[in-house]
Amino acid sequence: MKKKNYLFLALGLLCFGALSAQVRREFLLEKDWKFTRTDDSLAIRPDYDDAAWQSVTVPHDWAIYGPFNPNNDKQNVAIVQDGQVEPSEHAGRTGGLPFVGTGWYRTRFSVPEVADRSGKRVTLQFDGAMSDAHVWVNGRLVGVWPYGYNTFYFDVTPYLNPDGRDNVLAVRLENLPESSRWYPGAGLYRNVHVIVNEAAHIPMWGSHVTTPVVEKEFAKVNLKTEVVLPEGASVERFRLETEILDSAGKAVARAVSKLTPFDRQTFTQELVVEHPALWDLETPTLYTAVSRLYEEEQLKDEYATPFGIRTIEIRPDDGFYLNGRKTVFKGVCNHHDLGPLGAAVNDAAIRRQVRIMKDMGVNAIRTSHNMPAPELVRACDEMGMMLMVETFDEWKSPKCQNGYNRLFDEWAERDLVNVVRHYRNSPSVVMWCIGNEVPEQGTQHGAKVARWLQDIVHREDPTRPVTQGMDNPGAVINNNFAAVMDVPGFNYRPFMYPENYRKLPQQIVLGSETASTVSSRGVYKFPVVRAAMKTYPDHQASSYDVEHCGWSNLPEDDFIQHEDLPYTIGEFVWTGFDYLGEPTPYYTNWPSHSSLFGIVDLAGIPKDRYYLYRSHWNPSVETLHILPHWSWPEERIGDTIPVFVYTNYPSAELFINGVSQGVRTKDTTVRLEGSYTPEAQAAFERQKRYRLMWMDTRYEPGTIRVVAYDSAGRAVAEREVHTAGKPHHIELSADRTVLDATGKDLSFINVRVVDRDGNLCPDDTREISFRVKGAGSYRAAANGNPASLELFHLPQMKLFSGQLTAIVQSADEPGEIVFEALAPGVRGAKLVLKTVEAEK
Ligand code: GAL
Repeated sequence: MKKKNYLFLALGLLCFGALSAQVRREFLLEKDWKFTRTDDSLAIRPDYDDAAWQSVTVPHDWAIYGPFNPNNDKQNVAIVQDGQVEPSEHAGRTGGLPFVGTGWYRTRFSVPEVADRSGKRVTLQFDGAMSDAHVWVNGRLVGVWPYGYNTFYFDVTPYLNPDGRDNVLAVRLENLPESSRWYPGAGLYRNVHVIVNEAAHIPMWGSHVTTPVVEKEFAKVNLKTEVVLPEGASVERFRLETEILDSAGKAVARAVSKLTPFDRQTFTQELVVEHPALWDLETPTLYTAVSRLYEEEQLKDEYATPFGIRTIEIRPDDGFYLNGRKTVFKGVCNHHDLGPLGAAVNDAAIRRQVRIMKDMGVNAIRTSHNMPAPELVRACDEMGMMLMVETFDEWKSPKCQNGYNRLFDEWAERDLVNVVRHYRNSPSVVMWCIGNEVPEQGTQHGAKVARWLQDIVHREDPTRPVTQGMDNPGAVINNNFAAVMDVPGFNYRPFMYPENYRKLPQQIVLGSETASTVSSRGVYKFPVVRAAMKTYPDHQASSYDVEHCGWSNLPEDDFIQHEDLPYTIGEFVWTGFDYLGEPTPYYTNWPSHSSLFGIVDLAGIPKDRYYLYRSHWNPSVETLHILPHWSWPEERIGDTIPVFVYTNYPSAELFINGVSQGVRTKDTTVRLEGSYTPEAQAAFERQKRYRLMWMDTRYEPGTIRVVAYDSAGRAVAEREVHTAGKPHHIELSADRTVLDATGKDLSFINVRVVDRDGNLCPDDTREISFRVKGAGSYRAAANGNPASLELFHLPQMKLFSGQLTAIVQSADEPGEIVFEALAPGVRGAKLVLKTVEAEK
């Protein structure tokens, strides 16, 4: 009996697949694009000869190929938010890459089905285009969308050739100088979709799911589905059949609704899912509502809405609750670039980032300071990561001369509507963020603008709270700016949380942006002292994690507040990953051109700080991490080289060449009060609650060993770090060794030079060259050095602190990829990857 049912289901799905091809077709425009940086308005003409243009695939970031140059968007400004008064030259502020200027893209696409004269509609959807997109089809302007981060779409039906074939799509993009505070990327850096519909269909983002009742036994699912009907169609002829499929594809609820003239072309359906499997961080269960639109007996559309069943709630004086469980935001802010890939979206790269963050214990990402790519939202839905989706770094009042301020009046509402409709069915999205440190904070009218924006979001999505990142607490708690927000989000100044809380009505405080600690992977500075805005001749920052910005602090300064104050709901650290641009504190110091804020570097390699966060945020894995390395030059023998240990055990003992250096135990009695004096800061008082520090250890080559003790004093784990011998060979390890043969899957390969015994040579900077053969190609590399001008896409790169990451891309055909890394003076290494036919 059971078997029969399955068979029936399988047949049903087959039919479903076949039908869906008939009524709705969607494809990406990825290959066969032509691209140029020469501005030529004749390029809109269908007969324009673009043969001399470069052939590219989309997503494409035209600027990531460089070259780096200090004159690329050199900004002669005072960064007011950072406390600068006089203008000065900021060469690497936006990454030093050539994104400013114009770029043209052209391609052709065919939709022959429109020739049947049944009134089919064709939509072009751009997930994001940087920036000021002007879109022509067959020589006629279809539309414009200025903001580079948002998804937008146009109905291009009236512009198509009558036979639907060979339509010429031309897109002009232009990036102005001084339009950004970080590297924005350039070009068609996100996907372009073509969607073909029947005349009667469910439009873009036409469904809206909410789950107003979620109990253990059942969940009520409310689904609103808009439909577009041909002019003059009689609404009573239409009905919507919706099935909710569980994650195994089994139908668990069904509704059939007729449309009446009173429904204003929106179906409202209430479905009940029994014993729902909730979307949660560890079990990100997704359901799919499959809606079929019928006109009488004719299927007109099939529309799939993936969604999750979960509850979110903010309890005053208590916290944020996910599925009834108090959940503190252990969040990171991330910019959208993918390091060496630039802004060009790649699913594998995004999922790797989410994986690395999850391993660290991160449960939420803030998409600072703009709309994310759909690939990130989907990855977070599927992998169990919460999202705070952000929109703007500027409103009407400028931070950058040519920033969003120019667009705000005309576009803010449209931009908000698009992002909220796009992502409001995603369970990972738990909060919207309407702004970051906008200068309106300090004005009388700012609260009204905030309220207006928040109301738009509420109108489009009444189920999620809205916040914004405020860095001017002095002003915003007095002028209502903070009081109007669902969630008051504060950037930095954790010591002011108690005062903000006291003066505001919401009874909660969010650390919307925290820490801004700076460090360079594997670089250690002496003496080990806490410092703000410290610069060095090598343009790096200390990996002892003791340096921060003038306005910011060290990780523990936030940990304390979020642990001790009952009304704080968590934090979003600036930043999870290093990003291109904003090389603070090296504002004017070319070649610095990428950030030092990341907990993980630009190559995706964790810095020491990663283990500090992991020790605090991820109790499910053992963390016992020792820093610094123990391979110092001979002349350092006898020097003081402090040793820090990041661990989730309460105490540990350090041995240098077998000699105990004493036991350190986390001091859980430390509070914020009393630890903000200059003396306490200098003595790392707050850090003592979370790190184990031996400040007076002296260097001698050999072995440092750490033995961790549990709360009962039992030795439970140990780690060793050895002084490395001479560089001997290259070692390779890939994040994934089996790739999909899709032409775009990526493997990230850690490349390091080690001694004969496999110890990392932490000072090695030799250049490694890469060779890739077989069913894939070399894509890019990065070493995490924020002052390196090496180009990412060339098949060689210098190591930074002994390591780098090389990226290999799969081809379309399955097979084997052979990756080789070679360097003078050490034995090279080879790694074989496999690529397999991708699951359809
Ligand atoms: C914040 C800002 C971020 C970044 C950060 C660096 O004020 O919101 O975008 O600039 O500072 O510390």
